[in-house]
Amino acid sequence: MEKFKIEGCHKLYGEITISGAKNSALAILPASILAEKSCTIRNLPAIDDVTYLKELLRNLGAKTTDEDIDKVTINPAYINSFAVDFELAKKLRASYYFLGALLGKYKEAEVPFPGGCDIGVRPIDQHIKGLEALGVEIKLEHGIIKAKAKELIGASIYLDVVSVGATINIMLAACKAKGITTIENAAKEPYIVDTANFLNAMGANIKGAGTDVIKIKGVEHLSGCEHSIIPDQIETGTYMILAAVAKGDVLIKNVIPTHLESVSAKMREMGIEVIEYEDSIRIISNTRPKSVNIKTLPYPGFPTDLQQPMSVLLSIAEGTGIITESIYEGRFKHVDELKRMGAKIKVDGRVALIEGIEKLSGAPVCATDLRAGAAMVLAGLAAEGETIISNLNHIDRGYENLEDKLIHVGAKIKRVHETE
Ligand code: UD1
Repeated sequence: MEKFKIEGCHKLYGEITISGAKNSALAILPASILAEKSCTIRNLPAIDDVTYLKELLRNLGAKTTDEDIDKVTINPAYINSFAVDFELAKKLRASYYFLGALLGKYKEAEVPFPGGCDIGVRPIDQHIKGLEALGVEIKLEHGIIKAKAKELIGASIYLDVVSVGATINIMLAACKAKGITTIENAAKEPYIVDTANFLNAMGANIKGAGTDVIKIKGVEHLSGCEHSIIPDQIETGTYMILAAVAKGDVLIKNVIPTHLESVSAKMREMGIEVIEYEDSIRIISNTRPKSVNIKTLPYPGFPTDLQQPMSVLLSIAEGTGIITESIYEGRFKHVDELKRMGAKIKVDGRVALIEGIEKLSGAPVCATDLRAGAAMVLAGLAAEGETIISNLNHIDRGYENLEDKLIHVGAKIKRVHETE
C-alpha cells in the first residue's frame, strides 16, 4: 500500500503535458477485437486501467505487443475465448465494452457485471436494451452477463438516458450488423467521436458521432488500422482546476481546448485567467477565486468527472457555491474527507452547498474513488501543512505519472510506502 505525502501552499509554475484519454483508450482497446488484422494504438495513457484491459485481451487469446510505453499493437486473430476474466473485469467499469466488441465479431460474449468507482447505482439497462434491439439474447447468471445472437440486425434505438457506455457499446456491436442502426439521444462526449474515428479507420461506416443521432451502416469486414488517441479531457480539466487551487502560472500542453469550454467558462466566472492557445491552455491564478454554482451535465455541459476537483476550488473560494450533481447520486463521498481538512460543505441528496474558507489544513485523508482521489491531491496542494492520501490504487487507475507531472511544476508531493 502506498500513500501520497503532500506539503501544501507552494505555488506552481511551468508546463504539464496531458496524456491520451483514458475513456477513449478503454473503448478503443476492446474495439480492436472487431478487426481482422492488427491495430496499432498510439498515445495510450500509462494507467492501471489500460494495463488491466491489455491483460483481459491477452486472456481471450489476442496478441498484444507493447511497442513503446504509449503504443501497443493488438492482433485479435488468435482470440479463442469469448469469456472475459471475472476477477480482472471487476476492477474496472469499462469491461462492459467487451460485450459490444465480442458480440460484433463473434456474436457471443460472457462478461462479468462491471466494477469501477463506487459513485452510486450504475445500471447498464440501456446497453442491454440496445443490444437486445440488435437481436442479442441476454441472460444474467451468477454476476455474469451471457449474450448470444444468431445474427445481428440493425435497428433504431432511443436511449432513455444519455449514456457514454451504452452509445459506444451499441456502436461496437452494430459495426458489422446487417443493415442500418440508428442511436437516438446518443451521448456526445469526445471519446465517442474518437472511438467512431478508430472504427471508421478500420472500415466501419459510422456517421453523426458527436451529435445526438448516430447512424451505423453495417459492413462485412473490418481491417487493421493505426490510431492515435485524443488528449484526455478530464486530465486536462483536473490540472486546470489544480493550477487554480495551488495558484501560480501553469501551461497545460497537448490538449483540445474546445473539449474544456464548460470548465474554462466557469473558471473565468470565478476570476481565474484562462488563456486558450491552439493545443494548450494557460492558467494564471494569484487571487482568491469567487464562488459560482455548477451543475453537472452530459457533454458539452460541465463534466461530472470534474465535479469533485471543482468542489475543492469552491471550498477555498470567496462566497458560497452550489454544486448540483445530476449524473451520479453517490458522487459526494469525497466531501467527508474534505471536511477533515476544514472545508464547510453541506450535502443534501444531489446538492452540495459549499461555503468557501480562506485555507484548508492538511490532514490524513482517503481517495474514495478515482476523481475523489484527484480532488484530495488538489486539496493537499492548497492546504497548510501536510496531507497524507491513502488508497492510491484509485488514482493510479486513471492518472498517468501524476506525482512526476506535479513535481515538474514545483509541487511538494512524494509517493511513500505505508510504513514510511
Ligand atoms: C462514462 C465515463 C465516466 C463518466 C461518465 C459520465 C468511461 C469508461 N467512463 O461512464 O468517466 O463519469 O461516462 O460522463 O467512459 N445509465 C443508466 N443506464 C445505463 C447506462 C447509464 O441509467 O444503461 C445512467 C448512469 O447511471 C448515469 C448516466 O446514465 O447516471 C450516465 O452514465 P454513462 O454515461 O453510461 O456512464 P459510463 O459510460 O459508465
